Amino acid sequence: MRPVSGGIDFGTSNSTVGVMTNGKPRLVALEGAEPTLPSAVFFNFENNTTCFGRKAIASYAGNVEGRLLRALKSVLGTSLMADKTRIKARSIAFTEIIGSFLEHLKSALDRNVGQPVEHVVLGRPVRFVDQDDTADQSAQDALEQAARKLGFRNIEFQFEPIAAALDYEQSVSREELALIIDIGGGTSDFSIVRVSPERAATSDRKDDILASSGVHIGGTDFDRLFSISQIMPHLGYLSPTKDGKRNLPAGYFIDLATWPRINLLYTTKAKNDLRSIRFEAARPDLVERLMDIVEHKQGHALAGEVERSKIDLTDQDAARMALTLTDEVLDIALTRQGFDDSIERAVTTISQTITATLADAGVDASRITTLFLTGGSTSVPLLKETVLAMFPGVNVVAGDMFGSVGLGLALDAQRKFGA
Ligand SMILES: Nc1ncnc2c1ncn2[C@@H]1O[C@H](COP(=O)(O)OP(=O)(O)OP(=O)(O)O)[C@@H](O)[C@H]1O
Ligand SMILES: [Mg+2]
Repeated sequence: MRPVSGGIDFGTSNSTVGVMTNGKPRLVALEGAEPTLPSAVFFNFENNTTCFGRKAIASYAGNVEGRLLRALKSVLGTSLMADKTRIKARSIAFTEIIGSFLEHLKSALDRNVGQPVEHVVLGRPVRFVDQDDTADQSAQDALEQAARKLGFRNIEFQFEPIAAALDYEQSVSREELALIIDIGGGTSDFSIVRVSPERAATSDRKDDILASSGVHIGGTDFDRLFSISQIMPHLGYLSPTKDGKRNLPAGYFIDLATWPRINLLYTTKAKNDLRSIRFEAARPDLVERLMDIVEHKQGHALAGEVERSKIDLTDQDAARMALTLTDEVLDIALTRQGFDDSIERAVTTISQTITATLADAGVDASRITTLFLTGGSTSVPLLKETVLAMFPGVNVVAGDMFGSVGLGLALDAQRKFGA
């Protein structure tokens, strides 16, 4: 049997799998004909099955009793990584859940090529963890271990923006100095790469990669910041206690705005705490909304609405978010300005990281000929405007927003494994 390799882009929000066919990279269908699979896992408590992707999100939204996990990649490298989480009567480590998601991707890959694939290039952000090399390495190790358990024998890693550069390079007709900008759900990643049709054919590209850097900020952070600033005040966040001496404690509001922390609100302790917070509150009616959301496990639905509104605000100046509670519909008007204000500092950090990448490469912004944009969050208007303003007159290429990294990983796998 001919050895076959593949590339897996395990994303915070969406995952893809790339393979080579007749010398060209292509994405494997992962859910029906869809080449992307939302990185979501749902444990169905009613029939004790596990499902993935859009099906996972739909089951949860359809009120099937169970547990939904999203943004699992952001657990890598954090203290949560070794933790176990309760899935009905069992306790399962987060790394094990990541393993079952990867297994689902691998089985689609194996089925697609008609044999078990043993060689893989896994994409990774330039930084899993900011400013902590040990934690960053342990994040990669955990991913490698999970992949090895699935039967991959040869496992290599590649920076996601380098993979995107390899994909972009397929379409260039002359040498360019490209800044690859990949801003996804969890991280913002940058590489400055010399690309050209001739260089694409060479195997050692070290000299062509001038710099890579990244920061742990992405679309899920935008969702969280947007929710904290524009939604949570409607549930009592930043409102005072009855005695007017202080504001209500912020923790549970922040948890509700943060995808992987939503489940922490569904414990008996949290529910008891919320009762005492309501008792103390000058506006108990607002806290009752929060309690209603928790009681009916609407936290993920709320976070989903926040994300949808964020995406609406990419093309519109205003949007509405609605969530049906027991006694009312929580209907909130949102604006692009409000969104921009809530993410402004995060956007500044991202642009500072770009400046640092240029410094690291030792090139001036004016020498960059092309910006290659990929990742869902490169659509965010404030972010796009801020980045483009740093490179006046540059050629801007919008890549396949969700597929570039997976395609580039397939190219890299062929380069690394020759198969
Ligand atoms: N039109 C849009 N406007 C703004 N944000 C968007 C849009 N479309 C998608 N997004 C955001 O893009 C993010 C997902 O992008 P993508 O699929 O590239 O991430 P990922 O590859 O899973 O994450 P990462 O590479 O960081 O691990 C989500 O946060 C989503 O809300
Ligand atoms: Mg990505």
